[in-house]
Amino acid sequence: MTKRDFIKALGVMTLSSPFLSFGDNGRFMDINYFDRKALNDDEFWKTIRKDYLLKNDYVNLENGYYCFIPQPTLNKYIEKIRKINFEGSFYMRNDLDSDKIKTAERLSKLVNCDKEELVITRNTTESLDLIISGFPWEKNDEAIFAIQDYGSMQEMFKLTAKRKGIVNKIISVPNHPKNDEEIVSLYEEQITSKTKLIMVSHMINITGQILPVKKICEMAHSYNIDVLVDGAHCVGHITVDIKDLNCDYYGSSLHKWLSAPLGTGLLFVKKEKISKIEALFAGHVHERDNILRLNHIGTHPVHSNMAINDALDYLDSVGLKRKENRLRYLQRYWSDKLRSDTNVIINTPSQNERSCGIANIGVKNKNPEELSKILFEEYGIFTVAINYANVKGCRITPNIYTNEEELDYFIKSIIKIAAN
Ligand SMILES: Cc1ncc(COP(=O)(O)O)c(C=O)c1O
Repeated sequence: MTKRDFIKALGVMTLSSPFLSFGDNGRFMDINYFDRKALNDDEFWKTIRKDYLLKNDYVNLENGYYCFIPQPTLNKYIEKIRKINFEGSFYMRNDLDSDKIKTAERLSKLVNCDKEELVITRNTTESLDLIISGFPWEKNDEAIFAIQDYGSMQEMFKLTAKRKGIVNKIISVPNHPKNDEEIVSLYEEQITSKTKLIMVSHMINITGQILPVKKICEMAHSYNIDVLVDGAHCVGHITVDIKDLNCDYYGSSLHKWLSAPLGTGLLFVKKEKISKIEALFAGHVHERDNILRLNHIGTHPVHSNMAINDALDYLDSVGLKRKENRLRYLQRYWSDKLRSDTNVIINTPSQNERSCGIANIGVKNKNPEELSKILFEEYGIFTVAINYANVKGCRITPNIYTNEEELDYFIKSIIKIAAN
C-alpha cells in the first residue's frame, strides 16, 4: 500500500464516524459514553477512535507533546467556556475557589494523596519550577538530576545555580538498565553531605522509560534528601500512587495523557514539606503549611480547570487500568516486531514495568532528524526526532485512538527505511 492509498483509506475510516455529525446548534452531538464499557476490547477501542476528530493527511504518532481532547470532553469544555462567558464575574466571585478545590480533591483521589496536598497548576513547568525556585537553598547546596530529564527543568536548576550558588550533579540513565539497583546507585553515588534535592523523571519523556521512583525515594530519604518527581507523562497514562511512591513533590501536566484542556497541571507537596517552600507569586493565603499559599497565579482560564472534571469523567468511562494496558499493548505491538531487526535500535526497555505507551526508535546510519523527515515526507507518519544524551531516534507516541492498522503501516515503513 502506498502512502497515498493508506492515508486515503484512513480518511474514509475517520470521516465515517457517527460522532462527527453536527447538531442544530452547530456543536458536536453528545453521546452516552459510559454505555460502551461492557464492549469487548476490539469493539471498545473502535468506538474510542470515533471520539477523536483525526486529521486524515498523516498518521499521528506524536501524542507526547499534547494529547488533544476527544469530542465528548471537547463538547463539555465548550459548554464551560460559554458558562464563564455568560456568568462572568458572578462565577468568579461565587464559585471559582470552591470549584477549583473540588476538582483538586478529585485529582488527589486519582493520584492517591491527601486533598490538602494537591493544587491545580497550569502545567508541569509551573509545578516543578515552583519547587526548584522556592526550595530553601543555601550556597553550595547540591542537587542531582539526569541529563535525560526535561530540558527546561535542567535549565531551572542552572538558573538556580546562578541565583543561589547551588551545585548541580548530572547523571546519565542507561536506556536499558540491568535492574532498579543500577539506577538507584547512579543517584546514590552522587550524594554528599551537601545534597538537598534529587529530581527524577517518573517517565523519561524522550524514551518513555519508567524509573524506579519508589526505590529512589527510599534511598534518598535514608540520607534525609527530598525527591521531586517529574510526572509530566504519567497522570492519565499509568497508575500514579503518590502515597506508595512516597516522594516529597510531584508535578504533572493534565493536557498530556489525561487529555484535559491545554494549560492544566497539578502539583503535590507532602504535607510536612509545604511550609518549607516559598511561593512563586505572592497571594493572600499566609499559613505556612497551607498548600494554597503556593497556588496564587492571578486571573486565568478557569474554564480549562473546570473541564478537568470532564477529562476525569472520560478517563472513568475508559478505566485507567484499561487505558494503561492499551497504551502498553500498542507500544509493544510495534516495538516487539522491530526489536529483532538488526538495523533498528529501540531506545526503550521492553519490560512492562519499565515502559508503557511511549518508546523511541532509531535506525542505523540515519540521524533522527533524517528519520523523522523520511517518515513524514515519504510515509505520512508524524513523529519527533530526539538527538541528545544517549538517545538518538524518533519518539513514537500512539494514543488510545491509534489502531493496529496504523502501527502495521508504521512497522512496514520502518522495515523499508532500515533495509536501505
Ligand atoms: C518530562 C517532562 N517534563 C516537563 C514537561 C513540561 O511540560 P509542560 O510544558 O506541560 O509544562 C514536559 C513536556 O513535554 C516533559 O516531557
